[in-house]
Amino acid sequence: MNKPGLQITEHAELHGLNTLAVAARARYLIELDDPSGLADLLADPRFSGLPLLTVGEGSNILFTGDFDGLVLRLNHAQIELLDEQADHALIRAEAGASWDALVTWTLQQGWSGIENLALIPGRCGAAPIQNIGAYGVELSDVLSTVEVYDRVERACRELAAADCGLGYRDSMFKRQPKRFVVLAIQLRLQRAARLRTDYAGLREELAAMQIDQPGASDVAEAVRRLRRRKLPQPDVLPNAGSFFKNPIVDADLAQSLRARYPAMPQWPTADLHCKLSAGWMIEQLGFKGRRVGDAGIAPGHALVLVNHGNASGSALLALAREVQDAVYTRFGVRVEPEPQII
Ligand code: EPU
Repeated sequence: MNKPGLQITEHAELHGLNTLAVAARARYLIELDDPSGLADLLADPRFSGLPLLTVGEGSNILFTGDFDGLVLRLNHAQIELLDEQADHALIRAEAGASWDALVTWTLQQGWSGIENLALIPGRCGAAPIQNIGAYGVELSDVLSTVEVYDRVERACRELAAADCGLGYRDSMFKRQPKRFVVLAIQLRLQRAARLRTDYAGLREELAAMQIDQPGASDVAEAVRRLRRRKLPQPDVLPNAGSFFKNPIVDADLAQSLRARYPAMPQWPTADLHCKLSAGWMIEQLGFKGRRVGDAGIAPGHALVLVNHGNASGSALLALAREVQDAVYTRFGVRVEPEPQII
């Protein structure tokens, strides 16, 4: 079944393909180097009726059992400059390129705009799915175009970022997971973007580095230091980053919570709602560092679910449900999982 650039494995073990390091199998795993073969592959009668799951590093997925379908991994990984002007550029990154490699490459070329997103695990193809974000910047701030294979139209298309329904950890790709396979992304970056150093901790980190006139690479380095300190690295302690999204609630509920819990962090949103800190609420409930068998909550960050060894996906999900119920009972707020739960 294999030829150069195409590897098909039946009953494939997915342990190494999800950063929570959960054991699970896929009916088929297809690793593909050249996406021009994708349409034919998906039309193959062996695969055409099966559910499809596209993965990169698997850094935002929880498998709760075996996947009776087709797991697709696109490995094309070129990064290139499509257009260069004096003050801005259009950069294209293929789905299989590591996101952090893209951040490093753009900074080396002197382009700024994604320095706050340094060290986010995963590949470029996954970036628009949940509109990755950190330290005050989201992919949607710089995303120009998403190149996709559209399974309904059976054609490759270029979608303008404005048509991708991007929101906080959300996109139309997330809402219609069966329809699109992301092939590449195009970003518009600046020669000298306005640096975003307002996020709590970032300015302090730059001060600790003794940098008072930071450039984009300094901001990236400060973000790397913060992330390494706060978040467990998946290769040391398997995890999928934030397991819960920060809930967005209406202003009245936010106000009554503020009256009851004056220390609760809240961030007003543009549309008169309020974003709450799921990590703060989960920490208040005593979950930080909690462990049930090998399933646990990170000792350093209450938003992160971790696998201390051989936790099953369903054990991790059971712990997540316990957290959700406890948050709802105490605060009247529903926290929703961020990763895709399979
Ligand atoms: N906090 C706690 N306890 C915790 C964690 C957080 O009290 O255990 C409170 C603190 O008050 C802190 C505030 O929450 O000041 C915000 O914490 P942090 O800066 O760590 O940010 P976060 O809201 O918990 C979000 C993203 C992260 C991203 C950071 C930094 C989500 C779901 N998570 O976390 O993204 O790195 O901001 O921008 O929006 C990810 O998506 O996988 C991820 C790691």
